[in-house]
Amino acid sequence: MAKRLQQVLAGEAIWPPPIWLMRQAGRYLPEYRALRAEAGGFLSLCLNPKLASEITLQPIRRFGMDGAILFSDLPIVSYALGQDLHYAEGEGPILTPIRDAAGLSALSLTGVADAVAPVLETVQRVAAGLGDATLIGFTGGPFTVACYMVEGHGSREFAAARLMAYRDPALFGALIDLIVDANLIYLRGQADAGAEALMLFDSWAGMLPPDEFRRWVIAPTARIAAALRETHPHIPLIGFPRLAGMLLGEYAIATGVRAVAMDTSMDPAAAARLVPPTIALQGNLDPLALVAGGAPMETAARAICETLRGRPHIFNLGHGIVPQTPPEHVAALLAAVRGA
Ligand code: CP3
Repeated sequence: MAKRLQQVLAGEAIWPPPIWLMRQAGRYLPEYRALRAEAGGFLSLCLNPKLASEITLQPIRRFGMDGAILFSDLPIVSYALGQDLHYAEGEGPILTPIRDAAGLSALSLTGVADAVAPVLETVQRVAAGLGDATLIGFTGGPFTVACYMVEGHGSREFAAARLMAYRDPALFGALIDLIVDANLIYLRGQADAGAEALMLFDSWAGMLPPDEFRRWVIAPTARIAAALRETHPHIPLIGFPRLAGMLLGEYAIATGVRAVAMDTSMDPAAAARLVPPTIALQGNLDPLALVAGGAPMETAARAICETLRGRPHIFNLGHGIVPQTPPEHVAALLAAVRGA
């Protein structure tokens, strides 16, 4: 019998829908904070197979999620290409920015396989101890990874990256191509190590106007999906073009992904009209509704399920769990969705 989440990724509608949550492993869990304190730094944690596999499994043990998302982070692929990466306490990734051809030429694919080896070992360890949950590997969408690589840190606008795309599209395109190739090495490695599905987080896709979105989000994602289909036809790809809005349907069709994740702002009824019924939808409860909890959260969760009833749907949030989320609310959400 196929696992529930994989049935949906294969295009089946099942009721109640399977559920997992973005950032389900993380700071809202006391058992995460305990292991995090042991590792001495977030990057060391991501590159420690024993601790990272344990953290991946924590929410599966506590809640019985249908999906286990690999515990790692998005700029691991930039680090694997040779870019300097570190985390200041309490902050997101900080990288030495790539602003010109010289910066780009310092990066290389030759070290990628070795650099990601510890993450692949994490995947292997999780796969060995998993049970009924589906193991989801991931990396960043090429555009979002490029945003961090050019900017050097998180930002509301990523103006340096988006200006490079306008002023020197050949240079920005070469960076995107390099990320596509690195992501392929990384994703194929995850699939070979035991990942049963793969997800591309394109968190900043929605900043782009339509033609830029087609060029820097849809086209590179389509190349990744096509290349994976050639070598790993049984591994479904989930795309998350956050804030894609009206372009969600075009993204779903033109990239060839098996599922699309809806962000918090997406109306599930509109997504159901935009995206062909053979492609699964994932999402999309507001992470803050989960923080608030109670009857309004349960009502909102059930409404999403009802709207998508009869279509392949994987329940999730519209973005990651935030650190102030009470773990009891997560348990209540699972009960609401499963009793739906
Ligand atoms: O449970 C999971 O979802 C798996 C692990 C995971 C993390 N990051 C762990 C993490 C995943 C899938 C990611 C993806 C990621 N990382 C994205 C795409 C999704 C999104 O949120 O839009 C992005 C943009 C990043 C980059 C990143 N990493 C930021 C902006 C931050 C700081 C903000 C924050 O939430 O802390 C990180 C750090 C990070 N990644 C933490 C975790 C658990 C917190 C680090 C800590 O414990 O100190």
